[in-house]
Amino acid sequence: MISKIGIIGAGTMGCGIAQIASQNGHEVVVVDKETLQLEKAKAGLDKILSRLCEKERITSEDKIAILNRIRFTSELKQLSDSDLVIEAIVENIGIKHEVFKAVESLVSESCILASNTSSLSIASIGSALNKANRCIGIHFFNPAPLMPLVEIIPAVQTDEETLNSAVELIKNWKKTVVTCKDTPGFIVNRVARPFYGEALRIYEEGIADFATIDWALTELGGFKMGPFTLMDYIGNDVNYAVTESVFKAFYYDSRFKPSFTQKRYAEAGFLGRKSGRGYYNYKEPKSNKEANKDRVLGNYILDRVRCMLINEAIDAVFMNVGSPVDIDLAMTKGVNYPKGLLTWVDELGHKEILDQLQHLFDYYGEDRYRPNPLLRRMVANKTKFFPH
Ligand SMILES: NC(=O)c1ccc[n+]([C@@H]2O[C@H](COP(=O)([O-])OP(=O)(O)OC[C@H]3O[C@@H](n4cnc5c(N)ncnc54)[C@H](O)[C@@H]3O)[C@@H](O)[C@H]2O)c1
Repeated sequence: MISKIGIIGAGTMGCGIAQIASQNGHEVVVVDKETLQLEKAKAGLDKILSRLCEKERITSEDKIAILNRIRFTSELKQLSDSDLVIEAIVENIGIKHEVFKAVESLVSESCILASNTSSLSIASIGSALNKANRCIGIHFFNPAPLMPLVEIIPAVQTDEETLNSAVELIKNWKKTVVTCKDTPGFIVNRVARPFYGEALRIYEEGIADFATIDWALTELGGFKMGPFTLMDYIGNDVNYAVTESVFKAFYYDSRFKPSFTQKRYAEAGFLGRKSGRGYYNYKEPKSNKEANKDRVLGNYILDRVRCMLINEAIDAVFMNVGSPVDIDLAMTKGVNYPKGLLTWVDELGHKEILDQLQHLFDYYGEDRYRPNPLLRRMVANKTKFFPH
């Protein structure tokens, strides 16, 4: 049974995961190499819990108990009696290898060693261990206490027992768990790429401006945020880095090709909300353009981005990255899509989406628009992902 939990990294993700674990009654040790970061994390958590008290989500006794169950330290050896350690440090494979090696030398044989990495291979992280069968990816979304989805990623070395224990624990924390193959971007960060990439491409071709593309996807498509607003929220530097990493990891498949526009915006320091300017100007909102609410144009934009997203979701099924149910859950619970992409294609008609993709493929002659073979097969066989 998993009782004591160790977290390495007291940054954005480590703090959020520590909060969830403690709220679920676990003793938690949070380790960070920076003492200043530990102080910041402690103060930040105190503030978050106070807000939860004000909103009457927890009592002040709960708050004290949650804080008392968490120990903040800079000593890795305090993780020695953990049943599970979740690493949430900097996204650097060399540093992760060092940390995993060091932790393995401290903990028991049965301790599960997990990584919250967004983009690195779990197999590679596990390769630093003597007992790699205990290594697994447990990928939370930001902010971890609020986002319901957790992707669980067994590596080729991971044993069944480790997988089952991780799934059981995270389900007990009332999270929506999806299991996925150890492939670049897992489910969400792979399937979501065209939301940014195709929107940027439409802009680069001069078909529409940022505000119009955002309007089409929110007003006509039902997405909570348009791609440019979302990239500004995530940060153009961060979003570009994820795209570039997925592109490289897929051996430069043109479906994931990063955009020069985004690269230039990141280089210019137009990072988004955090720098006051991204695709939109947050210091002088009045200078931002109004959307062109032409419905014909809007529907063209929506169809184009959506068919690319659907093609990516279908590819994830085709390549056995996850089950259709998990892929729809991942996109609705991990990035708040208005509908699962596979449910959407069932509703819109597979033939309609195939025609849209085939048209783009014929018109541009670019590989990025190639329709997935599973989509072709489903059109030929007249099948659906969720027939009932
Ligand atoms: N931020 C997100 O939106 C997000 C979402 C999902 C997953 N992730 C992944 O989670 C991990 C952490 O991301 P984050 O955004 O919380 O980073 P962050 O920069 O906020 O925090 C990282 C923390 O790790 C500490 N650290 C670095 N090296 C260390 C070491 N050797 N030993 C102990 N502590 C060390 C740093 O001092 C820092 O406090 C990354 O792998 C990232 O890819 C991030």
